[in-house]
Parts: sequence; structure tokens; C-alpha cells
Amino acid sequence: GVKIATIGGGSSYTPELVEGFIKRYDELPLKELWLVDIEAGKEKLEIVGGLAKRMIEKAGLPIEVHLTLDRRAALKDADFVTTQFRVGLLDARAKDERIPLKYGVLGQETNGPGGLFKGLRTIPVILDICKDMEELCPDAWLINFTNPAGMITEAVLRYSTIKKVVGLCNVPIGMEMGIAKLLDVDHSRIRIDFAGLNHMVYGLDVYVDGESVKDQVINLLMDPNNSSFVKNIEGLGWEPAFIKALDVLACPYHMYYYKTREMVERDTDNAKKEGTRAEVVQKLETELFELYKDPDLAIKPPQLEKRGGAHYSDAAVRLITSIYTDKRDIQPVNTRNNGAIASIPNDSAVEVSCIITKDGPKPIVMGDLPVQVRGLVQQIKSFERVATEAAVTGDYNKAVLALTINPLSPSDTIAKEIVDEMLEAHKEFLPQF
Ligand code: NAD
Ligand code: G6P
Ligand code: MN
Repeated sequence: GVKIATIGGGSSYTPELVEGFIKRYDELPLKELWLVDIEAGKEKLEIVGGLAKRMIEKAGLPIEVHLTLDRRAALKDADFVTTQFRVGLLDARAKDERIPLKYGVLGQETNGPGGLFKGLRTIPVILDICKDMEELCPDAWLINFTNPAGMITEAVLRYSTIKKVVGLCNVPIGMEMGIAKLLDVDHSRIRIDFAGLNHMVYGLDVYVDGESVKDQVINLLMDPNNSSFVKNIEGLGWEPAFIKALDVLACPYHMYYYKTREMVERDTDNAKKEGTRAEVVQKLETELFELYKDPDLAIKPPQLEKRGGAHYSDAAVRLITSIYTDKRDIQPVNTRNNGAIASIPNDSAVEVSCIITKDGPKPIVMGDLPVQVRGLVQQIKSFERVATEAAVTGDYNKAVLALTINPLSPSDTIAKEIVDEMLEAHKEFLPQF
């Protein structure tokens, strides 16, 4: 039987994951699921763990669920380690979102200053997990969902000895499912050639039953109602002239780069009204955990779909199953480039369509990115690499450099001021600085 350890097991997404394991039990005979959290997440772990146990009991499957604060016990001899933790919890995310807005800069958990600081807080923890894995489960696969997922994959690949790492995001699968719905075809008939970075991924082409429908899909994306595929980003639509000439599918996160002013204005407005996304999610989470407590509830409640990470279980469990069964199907994941995208270093993480084998994802060679998107992808990769270096070394100058070269930053001086304020605000979670 398979042993899986899930770090950040108290996450409200855990029922999503458990639903995935139940659905694919025939292919993936899960024996032990270890949900790990920290003292601060103990109550959430118990509530969500209770629901996980009821879901499994209802399905009549012999899966053991262990709830623990002892990460080492959970990692011992695990086959897969999945990570979905949030260092500093949602309070830290709210700071990532609010502080940059004071400077007129985007406040978002995976882009710009917020993405940088979430990375600076998370990288020391993930590298520590890698050290434990090296000792306790050296053959396990690390499936990372923790954001910023691209930067975290980069850090593991380049600064740990763990090579069996895959970063996962629900945006590509969300785009596939959303486009299938727009075209009114089954998800299984759609294929998208994904290439780029996490939250900076493009669909180079899109096919139904192998025939390209790219132009039709690009036309559909212009409509604001069709321009976002995730709940946490409100689609603002695209200028027809721009999106047609771009000639590839943009992901919802591209709105932060190609509509920066509108997105900052919209987020500033939202922050004043309903609060930032973290503040909205805090309320949503309280509601969700109230539901999870109900001893009669034994399914994933539909309210979870209000969170941005919808379809996460499909993505995570189909990935684990394909590695376990050597399925060799195509899935978009974050992995070592190895030359698949010509304009990105070979040793860096990219988000790309891959063939999923027992030896992990084999990226499909995409060649060079089209000239109109190549520069932005390279710039974000430079940002991620410098940010990762800052996280590993605690080098203040590198942190300022990372933020300054980020396209969402208006100047070196503003970048420095934001870094100073955020270093102070998050100092409890930044032991390296
Ligand atoms: P959350 O705030 O519910 O945190 C999950 C759990 O992590 C909490 O129970 C918390 O106590 C625990 N935790 C915090 N620090 C920890 C540590 N050092 N070790 C172990 N556990 C720790 O978060 P969430 O909203 O469920 O999101 C979890 C993570 O997944 C975040 O990093 C988020 O950005 C990410 N996420 C990624 C995607 C994606 O597309 N890759 C989608 C949604 C969410
Ligand atoms: C998806 C992304 C995640 C992101 C999350 C936010 O868009 O792929 O990486 O962090 O949703 O969802 P939330 O509900 O927490 O705002
Ligand atoms: Mn994501």
C-alpha cells in the first residue's frame, strides 16, 4: 500500500484531496494518509481530519488517516509527500496584499512584493522539509502545491538534494476545464500545449480531438466573463487588438502584467470595501470549518469551490496516480526545464506540458517561446532566481534587487521601501534576514 504525507494537512483544501484519493482508489491503493500540521493549526487539523475520516468511512475504503504534529513520523517511509502549507497563515498573506497597495503596487500572494515575501518565508521551511525527506524517505516524490509554487520548485531543484519534486498549480487544469465548457466539449477532448512559468503560463496552442481551435478560443477570451478561470481573480477581459496579436492563450494571472493599472485600482477598491482576498478568504474559511465540524457531513462541501484552488484534487491525484502507474499521459506541471523551453536555463523550473512517467515528468520540447512573450517570461524567471537566492542567503541587497527587476515594481527606491516595511512586518517568519 501507498503512504502519503500531507504537510499543511489542516488546510481547507484537504477534503478536496481526500475526494481525489477516494475516486482513484482503484488505481492508487492508498494505505496511509498522514496529515501533518503545526501547533497553530492543531484545531483546523482535528476538524478537517475528522471530516477526512468520515469521507473515507462512507466510501468503505481501508485507508488509515493519521493526524499529527510530528512531521518526522509522517515522513518516515512515505512514498509521496504533498505540501500545502502557509507560513505565517492568512494574517501574513493579508500583509503581503495590503502593504504594497500603500505604494500603489500590486498586493498579491504570488506576484510582485507579495510573491517575493511569501517565497522568502516559505523557502527555508521547504528546504528543511527536504532535509528531513533526505533522511526519512529519500525515494519519495515531493508534490508541492505551496505558493509561490514556481519559486518553491526552483528552490528545491537548485538548493536541495531532492530531485524528485513536482510543482503543481490548478490554473492549467482550470483553463482546460473552462475552455472545454466554453466550447461545450468534454474535458478529455481538449489538449493545450502549456509553456511558461507558474502563474505566467501560456497556451501555445489548443486542440479539440487534435485539431487546433486556438483562434476561436482567443476570441472567446476577450469577453470579461471568459477571461479568468479561477475564483480569486476577477476577469477584466482583454483588448481584442492585443489578445489577437499575442496569438497564444494568456492565463488569468497575466492580467496583473498586461492590465497592471486596472488591476491595482480594482484591488485597491476591493481592499477598501470587502477587504483584500486574504480577508475575504478568512471569512470563507470560518464558514467552511463550521461546515466541516458537522458530524453528519461526509462529503466535500460545494462551498469549497469559492476558493481559488478548485480542481486541485484532480490535478494532484491524477499526477500521483500517473507516476505510480507509469501512465505516460500528458499533464502540465512545474519541473526542471531540461531544454524544453529554449529561452530558460536548463536547471530552472518551468510550467510545461509533460509526459508523466514512473521516473517523473518528461517535459515536451516546446522550442523557443514566441518573441512577443519570451521577454516577460525570462524577466520573471530572473526575478524568481534572484528571489530564491535572497531567500537562501538572507542577502538584503538581493531582496531589493529581486523586487526592483520585477515588472510590477515602479522604481528601485519604492522597491527598497516596500522591502524594508515588509521585512519588518514579517520578521517573525524570516529568520534568515
Ligand atoms: P492555510 O492558511 O489553510 O494553511 C494550510 C495549513 O498550513 C494550516 O493549517 C497551517 O497551520 C499550516 N502550516 C503553516 N505553517 C506550517 C508549517 N511550517 N508546517 C506545516 N504546516 C504549516 O492555507 P491554504 O489556503 O489551504 O493554502 C495552502 C497553500 O497552498 C498556500 O501556500 C497557498 O498559497 C497554496 N495554494 C496553491 C495553489 C496552487 O495553485 N499551487 C492553489 C491554492 C492554494
Ligand atoms: C488559484 C491559484 C493559487 C492561488 C489560489 C488562491 O488561483 O492557482 O495558486 O493561490 O487560487 O485562492 P484563494 O481562494 O486562497 O484566494
Ligand atoms: Mn496556482
